[in-house]
Amino acid sequence: MVVRHSIPKLYMDEFFFARRRLVEKLKKAGNPEAIIDEISKNAFLLSPMVATYGPAGVNVAPFMLTFMVKNEHLMTVLDGLKRFVKKYWGKGSKAFVEAYDLLLNTVYDPNVSDPLKLVTHIMSKGHTWINLRVTSEASIGILIPPDRGALELRAKVYIYTEGPIYEYTNLVHDMMHAVPMGERSHPWYPAVLFEVKEIYDNSYQSLGKKIYPL
Ligand SMILES: Cc1cc2nc3c(=O)[nH]c(=O)nc-3n(C[C@H](O)[C@H](O)[C@H](O)COP(=O)(O)O)c2cc1C
Repeated sequence: MVVRHSIPKLYMDEFFFARRRLVEKLKKAGNPEAIIDEISKNAFLLSPMVATYGPAGVNVAPFMLTFMVKNEHLMTVLDGLKRFVKKYWGKGSKAFVEAYDLLLNTVYDPNVSDPLKLVTHIMSKGHTWINLRVTSEASIGILIPPDRGALELRAKVYIYTEGPIYEYTNLVHDMMHAVPMGERSHPWYPAVLFEVKEIYDNSYQSLGKKIYPL
């Protein structure tokens, strides 16, 4: 028998849809000060802390995470990302506006995206890298700003140095951090995929109650 676990509403409202709402706000914001203000207020949602253990010790470091799209949409989304890069390379604010729309229709569309799969690209060969290569496990700590709650995601980790998930992760990064400016500050890096297996509500009301799977 297949057991289906539904994703907790708290996780969807306070993490997935909170980030979608942020992209909608950024699209409307217009001026750079308003954009910086929104990003600062939501920094904990955008760059959560990733805790690992292993040969490099018990470690924690922040990483910019985004959502992975469902397998069945991956090739179509990759195609759209590649066309975006080609068309908007160096196009400044025009590229940003188009990037927000593309994000809303892919990464932040719950029908296209898989909210329980997160990706980042990993630049350093430091503690996180050393640990993940051996233990393949991580905990992700998300503070719901300013202090309304916290989510703990326990995840199985996969590393990709080539292929569609590697390309997706680096292209989504490029979309915001290279394409509008028309230049990149660093090359592509290995992609880390976090498959969320357990979620805990670490708010001071719930004090670490497991909310997924139930
Ligand atoms: C807000 C913020 C976001 C970051 N995002 C990333 C990221 O997406 N990818 C990455 O490789 N490093 C990122 N870093 C840097 C890592 O946390 C950094 O490489 C860290 O020093 C790795 O430490 P470790 O040796 O403990 O793994 C970020 C740092 C900050 C402050």
